[in-house]
Amino acid sequence: MPPQPASLFPSFPSADQQQYQVQIHLAVQRVLGSGCFILGEEVAAFESEFAAFLGVKHVVGVGTGTDAIELMLRALEIGPGDTVIVPSFAPSAVAAGVMRCGAEPVFADVEADTLTLCPKSLDAVLRSAAGLNVKAALAVHLCGHPADWETLQCVADEHGIILLEDCAQAHGARWHGKMAGSLDRAAGFSFYPTKNLAALGDAGAVATNDAYLAERLRLIRQYGWRQRYISETTGVNSRMDELQAAILRAKLPSLHESVHRRRKLAARYDERLNSIEMVAGPKERTGCEHAYHQYLVRSKRRDELVLHLRQAGIPVAVPYPAPLHWQPAYGGTAVLPESDRAATEMVSLPLHPHLSDDAVEFVCDAIERLNHATC
Ligand SMILES: Cc1ncc(COP(=O)(O)O)c(C=O)c1O
Repeated sequence: MPPQPASLFPSFPSADQQQYQVQIHLAVQRVLGSGCFILGEEVAAFESEFAAFLGVKHVVGVGTGTDAIELMLRALEIGPGDTVIVPSFAPSAVAAGVMRCGAEPVFADVEADTLTLCPKSLDAVLRSAAGLNVKAALAVHLCGHPADWETLQCVADEHGIILLEDCAQAHGARWHGKMAGSLDRAAGFSFYPTKNLAALGDAGAVATNDAYLAERLRLIRQYGWRQRYISETTGVNSRMDELQAAILRAKLPSLHESVHRRRKLAARYDERLNSIEMVAGPKERTGCEHAYHQYLVRSKRRDELVLHLRQAGIPVAVPYPAPLHWQPAYGGTAVLPESDRAATEMVSLPLHPHLSDDAVEFVCDAIERLNHATC
């Protein structure tokens, strides 16, 4: 009897929690026994362990990945009157984080192959940005694929702006051997429960090699306090809690292994989907290691494919069906053809480290059936 879809496709947060239940139980007991729940020893230990994982000098734990974007911009003294360029095919959090520091997000297009910030589009937006005080661009390593860092860096340098990383989907990705999150000035991370490194609630972090920036981030995350009750600078409340830090510490030692498993499943999808005409799998740029937070395929028949896979009991998702430049809150007049096309063609297939090889075969068989039935 063929395997039943429901058991083939466990949800990632539940399967992850099950996998680490003993370690999570111990971590929670440790925190409960400590009597300290916010910004204590667990947060400090996680910050230094995650910094070692990334190969950076400092990690500052904050409340969420959106806060990480806001705080890294604030720490760089970017705010009202400034503009930050972000890719349009990305989650709302990217624009929200920019707006929370008071700056204005302006959108650029993504590359067709990797769905990451397109250097040509960034250059075009910067050339047409007369009158805007553009301070930075935020390159999102979407789905776990590193953006074209060297080319983006050239464009950023030419225009005198700062290039920042959004690694919310890229824990464990590499760019020419360097971990995503260590490529330049600062990088934001989210540990939302679906991320490659997942908390059991909200949590985020900023990684940097800049000691001054790290110090500013530590002040800003808690009311601008160095000394309790004395606000040295304007700050917010965006603290990582001890329970989330302890849970992240329990999972961090397996992160390389779980990304390896994601890559193995992705390689099998690549192999099978390569010969199926109606879909095109993701591409990995030479020198990059995709962390496969998500496995997105492109299809001109996306909606039909989604319906077919859902009818077969396969949990697929349609990522970012409205690019940011279309959205009422951020809408402008930009023409960004690759973001528009991605919004109508991409579908996310099931992929996480707790998925079996059989699950991938089941999905590919289902796509193959639709492809055959309609060729
Ligand atoms: C690329 C990207 N940036 C930022 C965020 C924001 O993270 P959080 O949900 O922790 O605020 C997310 C999370 O969805 C994300 O995927």
